[in-house]
Amino acid sequence: MGSIANEHASQELVDAKTHLTNHFLSHQKGMALKCALELGILEVIHNHGKPITLSKLSNSLSIHPNKTSSLSRIMNLLVHCNFFTKQTSSINGEEEEIEAYDLTPNSHILLKDHPLSLAPLSRFVFNPDSIKPGFYLSSWFKNEDESPFHSAHEKSFWEYGAQVHEYNEVFNEGMGSDSRFLANTLVNNREFKELMEGIESLVDVGGGDGTLASAIARAFPKVSCTVFDLPQVVKGLKSVEKNLKFVEGDMFEGVHPAQIVLLKNILHDWSDDLCVKILEKCKEAIPSKGGKIIIIDMVLDPNNYTSNESLNKLLLDMQMMNLMIGGKERTEQEWNNIFINAGFSHYNILPIQGPQSVIMVYP
Ligand SMILES: C[S@@+](CC[C@H](N)C(=O)[O-])C[C@H]1O[C@@H](n2cnc3c(N)ncnc32)[C@H](O)[C@@H]1O
Repeated sequence: MGSIANEHASQELVDAKTHLTNHFLSHQKGMALKCALELGILEVIHNHGKPITLSKLSNSLSIHPNKTSSLSRIMNLLVHCNFFTKQTSSINGEEEEIEAYDLTPNSHILLKDHPLSLAPLSRFVFNPDSIKPGFYLSSWFKNEDESPFHSAHEKSFWEYGAQVHEYNEVFNEGMGSDSRFLANTLVNNREFKELMEGIESLVDVGGGDGTLASAIARAFPKVSCTVFDLPQVVKGLKSVEKNLKFVEGDMFEGVHPAQIVLLKNILHDWSDDLCVKILEKCKEAIPSKGGKIIIIDMVLDPNNYTSNESLNKLLLDMQMMNLMIGGKERTEQEWNNIFINAGFSHYNILPIQGPQSVIMVYP
């Protein structure tokens, strides 16, 4: 009996060590993917038009001849992570086996030319300036710094973006690709179309490079659309859509007026108190009759932290903690409190795409 109990205990320990190692080294998955993207592996496989052997892949990438076997190690991890498939076929009868790699739907959307490419988002997420704050998380819990981003870069995320042009560009392009991905679903969504009926004006507050507002302007040509964002983001931007313009401003001081105020991925950047301030300014910008705020953000389910979708939300919550001052993902109860404190009367939640929801808030 004793030895069976010991065997159980030791199996538990072995499983625990495996579990730990998989977590200790989980950043290697991201680094391998980053490497594959930077080497252009996805484009080479795609352009090849059929599964590609390691030697052909290696030749096309012009990597150092001594590194071909290392390339197979990157590929193996990314096969495990479901970014590539590895097919084995026999040639010359059964004598020789040949292995070839292909893309999966998970890597297709990272191709640079994919119409909904998320490659720009990956460049922002994998940027060393985005990763560095994570190293300061535990010290931030004990010191007075406003965010781990401050600890890493000595200024807020927004101040840093205003000064470091390259980082600002990587961020705006990353967010643009996230918006392009969503816009497709949003403008074709039945409830969203109904919501837009009879609407004459919409302002996308913190609308970045205008990707989402452009898609809305194209889909609803009678609606006069405005992107309202910080000067460092919208300065010099021109729209190809006649019904879209860019306006510089600070949402804490006032918001460009419109019947609909759109806030996509804005409120999760800020603390509850600052969200209330932003929403109060948005409320002043819309008519009290017929005006609406549309928030596109996540809604955390406090009773479900185990599904894949929940993991996605929890990881984004950590990202907000690292980068922003008081930034967080919220449960419905937390959203409700903010809406009440900002003086709104009611809201509806519409799940639209993956972990994101559309929250319609009414004065
Ligand atoms: C997370 S990004 C979201 C961008 C865009 N809505 C999207 O989802 O692709 C947050 C945006 O808020 C803007 N922003 C930050 N502070 C702001 C302020 N005080 N007034 C107006 N916009 C602001 C940023 O410049 C940035 O474009």
